[in-house]
Amino acid sequence: MTRVVLVVGASSGIGRATAIRLARRRDHLVLVARAPRPLADAAAECVLAGAASVATHPVDVLDLAGLQEVVAATHATTGSIDAVVHSASVVAYGRFDQVPAAIWDRVLETNVLGAANVARAVLPDMRERNAGAIVLLGSVIGEIAVTGMSAYTVSKWALRSLGRCLQLDNRDRPGVRVCVVSLGSVDTPIYQQAANYLGHAGRPPPPVYSAEHVATRVVEVLDRPRKRVNIGAANPLMRLGFALTPGLFDVLVGPLFRAVATARRPMPTGDGNVLSPLPQAEAVGGGHGLGVRVVLTDLVARTLDKVRRRSRRGGRARGS
Ligand SMILES: NC(=O)c1ccc[n+]([C@@H]2O[C@H](COP(=O)([O-])OP(=O)(O)OC[C@H]3O[C@@H](n4cnc5c(N)ncnc54)[C@H](OP(=O)(O)O)[C@@H]3O)[C@@H](O)[C@H]2O)c1
Repeated sequence: MTRVVLVVGASSGIGRATAIRLARRRDHLVLVARAPRPLADAAAECVLAGAASVATHPVDVLDLAGLQEVVAATHATTGSIDAVVHSASVVAYGRFDQVPAAIWDRVLETNVLGAANVARAVLPDMRERNAGAIVLLGSVIGEIAVTGMSAYTVSKWALRSLGRCLQLDNRDRPGVRVCVVSLGSVDTPIYQQAANYLGHAGRPPPPVYSAEHVATRVVEVLDRPRKRVNIGAANPLMRLGFALTPGLFDVLVGPLFRAVATARRPMPTGDGNVLSPLPQAEAVGGGHGLGVRVVLTDLVARTLDKVRRRSRRGGRARGS
């Protein structure tokens, strides 16, 4: 059955991979993100993949009126929206006090208020028809806490909470389904696009899934909506450690985060794509691969760095 699907955050990563996956099923697609050029590129890929139709709308999720216009335009041209995949999100790395307030706040606004705006724009028609699915892409980080990503962590807890509230508030419309998908690491450009005040680039800790793999699972969720879906082999372990052994979790999370979730390579600080898009870096994949080889190579290099620094200090002490 051909559906009309709104993909928000469709110009990069999982949103773009999902749009292409849906296009192969001949769905009608409505693509939203801020930057027009990568959105047009994503649309061209969807046309090639066989989409029944593709419309693009460069709109910020913080612009509720803009989103409502997208929905109205879709009703006028293609018909009611059957499903929404909400994939728009931004990240800021840095200790809480290092991240400028304007960046911290915008991460929260984009990831939480943006999702609420999307729901506001599509729900009236879905409720009237008692039909439709909203898939919110969340993170395992929305169920635990990590160091150096406070705004993103708080936003993903809030997104999960928003999803649960939407499920409860729409119980009187059983045809309207809201799903929260908690993802582990996915190889997308989000890590390079993030605002960064750590001095080191972020990266996905293993196990890392491809955006295409996640897109296939997201399309399965659209076909068979469930309230909560987890994608990531390490997610249950992280959740268990956080809930059952919080003391040990707190001791380990900092060193582990530094070892597996940040690169050794230094990185200048900056706002990334939080306040405005960085279109040149938008693509389906982030070039991280499966992560294990990269993390191991990096760990060996970091250890060698430490040994070299120690032996230099030892040499200076002997010399003085
Ligand atoms: N990659 C991972 O490892 C991972 C892990 C867990 C959860 N997730 C979640 O999965 C979802 C997709 O992430 P991804 O990795 O695919 O990210 P991505 O590659 O950076 O894509 C994010 C998309 O959101 C759009 N976007 C950002 N801010 C926006 C705004 N204000 N208004 C409209 N669109 C906006 C971006 O385009 P513009 O910048 O042009 O607007 C882009 O299309 C997110 O919810 C993320 O939190 C990802």
